[in-house]
Amino acid sequence: MVLSDVRLEVMRYIEGKLDVVMAEFLKPVEEYWQPSDLLPDATQENFLEEVKLLRESARELPYDHIAVLVGDTITEEALPTYESWLMDVTGINQHDPSAWTKWVRNWTAEENRHGDLLNKYLYLSGRVNMRAMEVSTQYLIADGFDIQTGRDPYRNFVYTSFQELATNISHRRTATLAKQAGNAQLSKICGVIASDEMRHAKAYKSFVSQIFEIDPTGMMLAFEDMMRKKIVMPAHFLRETGVQIGQTFSHFSDAAQRLGVYTTHDYINILDSLLTEWQIAYMEDLNDAGQRARDYLMALPDRLRRVAERTKLPELDYQFTWIA
Ligand SMILES: [Fe+2]
Ligand SMILES: [Fe+2]
Repeated sequence: MVLSDVRLEVMRYIEGKLDVVMAEFLKPVEEYWQPSDLLPDATQENFLEEVKLLRESARELPYDHIAVLVGDTITEEALPTYESWLMDVTGINQHDPSAWTKWVRNWTAEENRHGDLLNKYLYLSGRVNMRAMEVSTQYLIADGFDIQTGRDPYRNFVYTSFQELATNISHRRTATLAKQAGNAQLSKICGVIASDEMRHAKAYKSFVSQIFEIDPTGMMLAFEDMMRKKIVMPAHFLRETGVQIGQTFSHFSDAAQRLGVYTTHDYINILDSLLTEWQIAYMEDLNDAGQRARDYLMALPDRLRRVAERTKLPELDYQFTWIA
């Protein structure tokens, strides 16, 4: 059997159980939060008063904190790229709607609120050059991305498992920092987004667990391949006016490192948690290549930690066009 036929069969098998996953890890639209629940209501008399309070509490947020929020917002707003990427994965076909297309659409619909909410908050905060931010968003969608998964569902679900965990960590830490700065509103905003990301992570991790049950060697090789290539962030093509692709993203990730909202150590800890979640150390029924992949993966966290120990914290020396 060719590789893609195995993939298709596995995808069909998981599809049969997707309704359970959706019921567990997605929320009903009507019952869940919308961005407007967490922002001043422009139809109300006290709107301007609330905006004033929002601006006052945003005034004290450190430069790096704002930079990270802008980068997070742009990343979230590039959602069209992510949906179109997932729709193109082997076994998912929007012209032949199935539980998979339903999953992708519902996931997209939940995610879409993240960018909406953060964007409106930042607009009202008065801390951001909105035009510069919007230019970056348009560039990021126009430039697209390459997360090195191809159309392979195995590689894509490693990627999404990893990525949802990474966004959970960064939004959660931003929430904690906002709380420490006395900004309860922003803390709540980042907190609700973080909890969405965790639900999504659980769903994607469950897809990978199921694949391991059916095709352990294939899944192990895909996991190894993704980790050898390194998981790139979805906004790795992020750019500002007049700045080369790659540079803005690296400044954004420097700000996140300094602030401690997403660091090299988090990357390694996520890998560790996935090794545990998928019980990689105890995986059986692997061929020789699969066993070598397992050994590589099990040794990887320690190797990465040794490298991370030698890496210095980047210093503050960059002015984003985004920040007023
Ligand atoms: Fe998100
Ligand atoms: Fe997400």
